[in-house]
Amino acid sequence: MNVNGCHYRTIWLKESDPKIVQIINQQALPFKFEILDLSTFNDVVTAIKDMYVRGAGLIGATAAFGMYLASLEAGEKSFNKDLALAANLLKNTRPTASNLTWAADRMLKTLSAFNGSLERKREAARLEAMTIANEDAAFCKRIGLHGLEIIKKISEQKNGENVNILTHCNAGWLAFVDYGSALSPVYAAFDQGIKVHVWVDETRPRNQGASLTAWELCEHGVSHDLIPDNAGGHMMLNGLVDMVVTGADRVTREGDAANKIGTYLKAIAAKENNVPFYVAFPSSTFDFKMKSGVKEIPIEERDSSEVRFITGKTKEGKIETVQICPDSTPARNWGFDVTPAKFITGLITERGICEANEKGILSLYSEQTNNGG
Ligand code: MRU
Repeated sequence: MNVNGCHYRTIWLKESDPKIVQIINQQALPFKFEILDLSTFNDVVTAIKDMYVRGAGLIGATAAFGMYLASLEAGEKSFNKDLALAANLLKNTRPTASNLTWAADRMLKTLSAFNGSLERKREAARLEAMTIANEDAAFCKRIGLHGLEIIKKISEQKNGENVNILTHCNAGWLAFVDYGSALSPVYAAFDQGIKVHVWVDETRPRNQGASLTAWELCEHGVSHDLIPDNAGGHMMLNGLVDMVVTGADRVTREGDAANKIGTYLKAIAAKENNVPFYVAFPSSTFDFKMKSGVKEIPIEERDSSEVRFITGKTKEGKIETVQICPDSTPARNWGFDVTPAKFITGLITERGICEANEKGILSLYSEQTNNGG
């Protein structure tokens, strides 16, 4: 992604010291663009847990780099045991997105099969983490090209008028290593000169839409409006939305998709109003072992303070957090919901677009035919 004209990924190894992982601090956006150093395995755990990094693909890549830092801290004799422990700690940071478990397990598998000196094992860990990050970026780029075809068609049907796309939460550059999933087709269309406009759901309680998606779209120059979370139904009913595209944190083999809380409501409104509803994600988000998303996907419940308080910038330019409910009002804070496959028009993956059902998914991922849960 380009920030002030310079290209950045969301995570990388420091050029002058490749034993340090660098990230964009997403807690500070949209008010401040800041790069943080993660020098220890514990720094990585905190960065994921406290959401300095977030988004399914990015927490997967961060877990991979975390395993690399764990390899630098592991003893020669206890190497495999130390790494297994690190993988477990990482997996427990955030439960819903499959990418995190997938990346930690992939690192573990590669390293436990690797024979060689401690130094060579550490080098293998670095290379595998980089491969995971590079793959994430490449897959998201391809998602963009597949999704572009859908936007192109709508644009043609509208004789080149604006294609109005509603999105929820942040499934852009910032949620991955680069490009994004839901926003990748938007960027691809914009870069080809197709007129697009994005309706950005604010995405309470943490407001990833307002603070991250809006910021990214500004940086890329894409036309957008921030809308309250509850506006989507009204807008679809009144013909203001041509398509909805969201990301996903976990997708089952039958096509149910977990995404940021509130996505399900948008999917119901889209179905009722015949607005196509697409879910875009790389294959690391699939959980081929799961069938029913509603019954099986673990939903992260986060601290109630995220609902009871809101953070923003005052007129004087100070960042402040204020309470929005009575002192004694408790709150509940489910981070995600599951959209059943029947509400989804199509899944946009790096291998192409398919129907949200087992047959459609296996038509792209036939190697998973016998890997069901
Ligand atoms: O809680 P977050 O910010 O890590 O949530 C993840 C998300 O950004 C969304 O659910 C997103 O739409 C899918 S992840 C690309």
